[in-house]
Amino acid sequence: MTDTSNTIKHMASPLARQTLQDGTLTRPVAGVRPIRLLPWLQVIKIGGRLMDRGADAILPLVDELRKLLPEHRLLILTGAGLRARHVFSVGLDLGLPVGSLAPLAASEAGQNGHILASLLAPEGVSYVEHPTIASQLAIHLAAARAVVGSAFPPYHHHEFPDSRIPMHRADTGAFLLADALGAAGLTIVEDVDGVYSTDPNGPDGQQAQFLAETRHTDLAKQPGSLPFDRALLEVMATARHIERVQVVNGLVPGRLTAALRGEHVGTIVHTGARSA
Ligand SMILES: Nc1ncnc2c1ncn2[C@@H]1O[C@H](COP(=O)(O)OP(=O)(O)OP(=O)(O)O)[C@@H](O)[C@H]1O
Ligand SMILES: [Mg+2]
Repeated sequence: MTDTSNTIKHMASPLARQTLQDGTLTRPVAGVRPIRLLPWLQVIKIGGRLMDRGADAILPLVDELRKLLPEHRLLILTGAGLRARHVFSVGLDLGLPVGSLAPLAASEAGQNGHILASLLAPEGVSYVEHPTIASQLAIHLAAARAVVGSAFPPYHHHEFPDSRIPMHRADTGAFLLADALGAAGLTIVEDVDGVYSTDPNGPDGQQAQFLAETRHTDLAKQPGSLPFDRALLEVMATARHIERVQVVNGLVPGRLTAALRGEHVGTIVHTGARSA
């Protein structure tokens, strides 16, 4: 006769008998590369500042996105732009904590997403909230070639307290999602050609050198500003799937299309992920 209770107690499992706190014990089991959930997905992050430019910038981009639909299945994530900068300054002036500022800025990113989704609605594209992206993206992408969401990570009132300005913003959020989904690629759409040695629109803009190809570790050493959140470099270091990100100029028609076809038309940033 089988002793069922004994079998259950001794259920074979490599994690059953050890603490989950000890990395040396869990690493052989948990440290392997996870499966790619949506390996055919292309993630595109659209800069909020591009959206701020209004119809002149948005309509040609929407046209380009529309033409990409037969070729790719897209998760289009929007950034927050200037309205979030304004909400940060009002909130900081009032003494709001970082965890209260993050969702305020996230709502601006969501607004940009709603705008983009409305313009792509005739193609069956809609705006979906984070919980839907987390658990029902596959079914939405079976019904439509693309969906739009907010690129802001959903920390809400639990943002990291290092800085009063939330350090994980739209670029970090887009990367975390693309990497977690095991997407085919992430393209960051900016209002400049890519990453420069210094802000090309800043006071030292004349000296700015275009970086066609770089690594996250090199950018981490570069002082000054970047066209994406600096926290992105940290999450790039521990990436599982996304080996490179291309930053392209969304104001130049055709650049995004070329990037999605694998052409080098902006700045390629190599991450810490290794090919399988
Ligand atoms: N090293 C750099 N290389 C290129 N652009 C830079 C650099 N440093 C600063 N910038 C500036 O960053 C600007 C883009 O700003 P930012 O990345 O904040 O906008 P966005 O991505 O549209 O906004 P959001 O993050 O809200 O989506 C560019 O227009 C450029 O002037
Ligand atoms: Mg940017």
